[in-house]
Amino acid sequence: MAKMSAACIVLPSLFIFIFIFFVSTTCCSQEERSIYLVLLRGDPIAFHEDSQNEDSSRIHVSRKALIKAHEKHLLAYHDMLLQTTLENGSYNKLHSFKYIINGFSVHTTPSQAKKLRGTPGVKLVEKDRGVKMMTTYTPEFLHLPKGIWAQEGGEENAGDGIVIGVIDSGINPHHPSFAYQSFKSNLSHFSGACETGPNFPPGSCNGKIVSAKYFSAGAEAMATLNASVDFLSPFDADGHGSHVASIAAGNAGVPVVVNGFFYGRASGMAPRARIAVYKAIYPSVGTLADVVAAIDQAVLDGVDIISLSVGPNEPTEDTLTFLNMFDISLLFARKAGVFVVQAAGNKGPTSSTVVSFSPWSVGVAACNTNRRYRASILLLNGQIVDGVGLSGPSFGNGTVFHKLVLAKDAVKTNGTFPNTPEYIEECQHPEALDPTKVFGSVIICNFSEGFSNGTSTLDAIIATAKALRFEGFILTANPNYGDYIAEPIPFAISSILIPSVADSKAILKYYEEWTKRDENGTVKEFGAAAAIGEGRVASFKGRSPVVSRFSSRGPDFIDTKRSPADVLKPDILAPGHQIWGAWSPNSALQPMLTGHSFALLSGTSMAAPHVAGIAALIKQHNPSWTPSMIASAISTTSTKYDNLGDPMMAEGFEVNTLHPSTPFEYGAGIVNPNRAIRPGLVLSSDYEDFISFLCSLPNIDASTITTAIGENCSSSFDYPSNLNLPSVTISALKGSICVKRSVMNVGNNTETYLGSVLSPNGTTVNLNPTWFTISPLGTQDLEIQINVTQPMEDFSFGEIVLTGSLDHIVRITLSVVPVSA
Ligand SMILES: *[C@@H]1O[C@H](CO)[C@@H](O)[C@H](O)[C@H]1NC(C)=O
Ligand SMILES: *[C@@H]1O[C@H](CO)[C@@H](O)[C@H](O)[C@H]1NC(C)=O
Ligand SMILES: *[C@@H]1O[C@H](CO)[C@@H](O)[C@H](O)[C@H]1NC(C)=O
Ligand SMILES: *[C@@H]1O[C@H](CO)[C@@H](O)[C@H](O)[C@H]1NC(C)=O
Ligand SMILES: *[C@@H]1O[C@H](CO)[C@@H](O)[C@H](O)[C@H]1NC(C)=O
Ligand SMILES: *[C@@H]1O[C@H](CO)[C@@H](O)[C@H](O)[C@H]1NC(C)=O
Ligand SMILES: *[C@@H]1O[C@H](CO)[C@@H](O)[C@H](O)[C@H]1NC(C)=O
Ligand SMILES: *[C@@H]1O[C@H](CO)[C@@H](O)[C@H](O)[C@H]1NC(C)=O
Ligand SMILES: *[C@@H]1O[C@H](CO)[C@@H](O)[C@H](O)[C@H]1NC(C)=O
Ligand SMILES: *[C@@H]1O[C@H](CO)[C@@H](O)[C@H](O)[C@H]1NC(C)=O
Ligand SMILES: *[C@@H]1O[C@H](CO)[C@@H](O)[C@H](O)[C@H]1NC(C)=O
Ligand SMILES: *[C@@H]1O[C@H](CO)[C@@H](O)[C@H](O)[C@H]1NC(C)=O
Repeated sequence: MAKMSAACIVLPSLFIFIFIFFVSTTCCSQEERSIYLVLLRGDPIAFHEDSQNEDSSRIHVSRKALIKAHEKHLLAYHDMLLQTTLENGSYNKLHSFKYIINGFSVHTTPSQAKKLRGTPGVKLVEKDRGVKMMTTYTPEFLHLPKGIWAQEGGEENAGDGIVIGVIDSGINPHHPSFAYQSFKSNLSHFSGACETGPNFPPGSCNGKIVSAKYFSAGAEAMATLNASVDFLSPFDADGHGSHVASIAAGNAGVPVVVNGFFYGRASGMAPRARIAVYKAIYPSVGTLADVVAAIDQAVLDGVDIISLSVGPNEPTEDTLTFLNMFDISLLFARKAGVFVVQAAGNKGPTSSTVVSFSPWSVGVAACNTNRRYRASILLLNGQIVDGVGLSGPSFGNGTVFHKLVLAKDAVKTNGTFPNTPEYIEECQHPEALDPTKVFGSVIICNFSEGFSNGTSTLDAIIATAKALRFEGFILTANPNYGDYIAEPIPFAISSILIPSVADSKAILKYYEEWTKRDENGTVKEFGAAAAIGEGRVASFKGRSPVVSRFSSRGPDFIDTKRSPADVLKPDILAPGHQIWGAWSPNSALQPMLTGHSFALLSGTSMAAPHVAGIAALIKQHNPSWTPSMIASAISTTSTKYDNLGDPMMAEGFEVNTLHPSTPFEYGAGIVNPNRAIRPGLVLSSDYEDFISFLCSLPNIDASTITTAIGENCSSSFDYPSNLNLPSVTISALKGSICVKRSVMNVGNNTETYLGSVLSPNGTTVNLNPTWFTISPLGTQDLEIQINVTQPMEDFSFGEIVLTGSLDHIVRITLSVVPVSA
């Protein structure tokens, strides 16, 4: 922990996560207006009796007339309710939510919102807290090409027939990852539409992109949008939305070329799945109101999967984490048959930082892959120092030596600029350096206060390097700040990041040995020289998966006091560190990536769409599966071991050290798509089970559930851990508990399973029955008796493994706090 200096948390590469903060504006009245999300009593269209379909709850085009009539009725009701409740001129309705939730969003003052709270028919009024956006080589890393892709007819067919709804910053429709290629199947279950506008001309929905809509009423109410970045069209002015869409469903084999260098070919997880775009977040602002409107629309359109790499900035204060408008809308999306994937959050490695809370969505944590981009620098004395690159070699391909100059030794003596680290050591300002000393040289810039406090940027070093025509630069670590975290990023100029203090000292030692100074320390003669090597060629030997530092951790919690919930979060682990994906040359939030059409990014934002694409492959293979069957298959077939065969490790606070990881870091484990399409058994739950789960939460009044969800708690589990999840989590076990599970055979054959148990420390666990034979589509109830033997302070972990005679392996993770015997 000693090394946990500011430098350990600051990411000098500054591009990793995109946060869009809630901006509030004052308007006409004295009181500040905000956006409020309002949930009303009465059925939305999808669950309205007249529009119910006997064979499924999905919405069918044939029922268009009934839908239209009910839609008209709801719109009139929303307007009437506002007109009769609020003062004229005091509000502005932003959206009507009609399909999976009955409600609206409104821009108004706190006193008007209070009036709504007391109005009959109003169930919930919640202030909008704003939302944030939280290769590819990964298909090979996950063994897809020779696995599922081959079984589904190769990359030309993988994911065909499935629509993934991406709710994010829009899409760059001109990108080759989204170019049209012919499809084998027709989409009978999907009906989208294509909105056009700035940078999104007619034809942008080309068949690969099957629908594109944008939701901006919330954004427009909260901020003055900037027409040069906040395009009112589905166009992605940032790049984030295109990046996540390409990870889920980008075309296969698209060449990745950045700054003229070919990095390899990129493919999405389900390269033939279709993409439906719902833009709900803008470079200037993102609101929950727009995101909820997008979810409502995506379900109506008939998407199979929703991928969310955006989410609320923080949990709601006055409701349960499960019962805010966002999670309620995800519950109803799931009720309508849509598989929902969420980024777990980027607030790791602190515990209880997940932002995916509910058991009805799949929260995805992030890990690395075995790919590493290593750069090195060769000193004239023959010494080689490794670092992080992603830029080309200095002139001479790493064999011609260039004068080495410490920035501090090249500072202008007669200049007028502040005497701060950013001017003197951090190469942020060209006017501080003597052009004659740095021209054609390799300059050593020192990580210092500016990088530590996040005000200095690599962008500024590059600008300085270009202005003064450096041959290249080195960013060394500073003993005062400790090792820093470096992410490779494609630079147009030769460069290397040296994140280790020890390595940086070695370079400096060499430099001092060959630099002649006068009695005052001024350099008389620069004698050191170095050559920067190629940094853009990857090696594939690194330990992986390793849970990423930034990835949010469990345990899951039910309220802002962080009372633990009996639900395992995150659910699953997927690659999210240094992922290549499509980009938008506009790059409105990341000037360093302007003009690029691919970007290498890290975040749980990148992990979630991996699971969305894999869910598309599973759905294609097993079209009748419900979302919870898919979620179960993904969890029970995952693994906890890394490529060295060791238990998976995680990055913690300390730089360059790993610790053994737990399910609160990786969920069930690293996703294993080739096994997930044939899991043997699944544990599934449906909408009624989620209600019984909510009704069984401790200290929850049934009326709270009735108010929010409209269900009366006529059935409830004995305890929340009886929800039939593919994991068992008990946050306070006193004495003993008997947890129930039910498995269904989704294989083609009758199979005999034998159970084995690894009890969490402080408990003994008994499984009953310990073996069973199960026929295709048969079900088997299981009892898991957990007794405390030794009280513990914290969670301890174990698992139940069901091994089938036909080689299926089904893992159920156990997480228990044994409180008292
Ligand atoms: C608001 O104005 C409309 C007509 O524009 C009127 O029908 C309604 O009664 C007014 N509502 C209130 C609360 O004053
Ligand atoms: C798809 O639709 C076209 C035109 O309606 C039809 O000719 C074709 O047979 C359909 N293909 C499939 C696989 O249903
Ligand atoms: C709008 O965005 C452009 C491009 O990023 C920027 O140059 C300009 O200053 C912005 N305008 C405002 C009013 O923020
Ligand atoms: C540059 O050097 C590397 C080895 O350092 C070598 O593999 C590569 O082929 C060289 N590139 C060119 C263009 O000579
Ligand atoms: C600073 O010194 C350099 C040469 O050492 C000279 O070219 C430049 O004009 C001087 N600038 C000022 C502002 O005196
Ligand atoms: C960050 O460090 C720079 C470089 O010394 C300094 O100029 C700046 O004032 C610091 N900013 C903050 C917010 O501490
Ligand atoms: C960076 O700055 C620190 C503190 O001033 C110093 O100890 C270290 O030697 C410097 N490193 C380099 C490479 O200049
Ligand atoms: C070193 O600094 C002193 C005091 O500023 C000055 O008198 C002397 O000339 C300087 N020596 C050289 C070699 O510049
Ligand atoms: C609760 O709801 C169920 C089904 O929605 C209904 O059958 C039952 O009568 C309700 N019970 C009460 C007490 O309202
Ligand atoms: C299971 O049966 C289906 C339909 O008969 C067949 O398509 C599939 O290949 C079978 N799967 C296995 C693993 O045998
Ligand atoms: C666990 O506790 C239950 C209920 O108290 C008891 O019936 C059972 O025998 C215990 N099992 C073990 C292995 O201690
Ligand atoms: C269980 O306890 C053993 C021995 O005290 C310890 O080595 C091990 O790490 C513990 N395991 C877990 C999962 O807490």
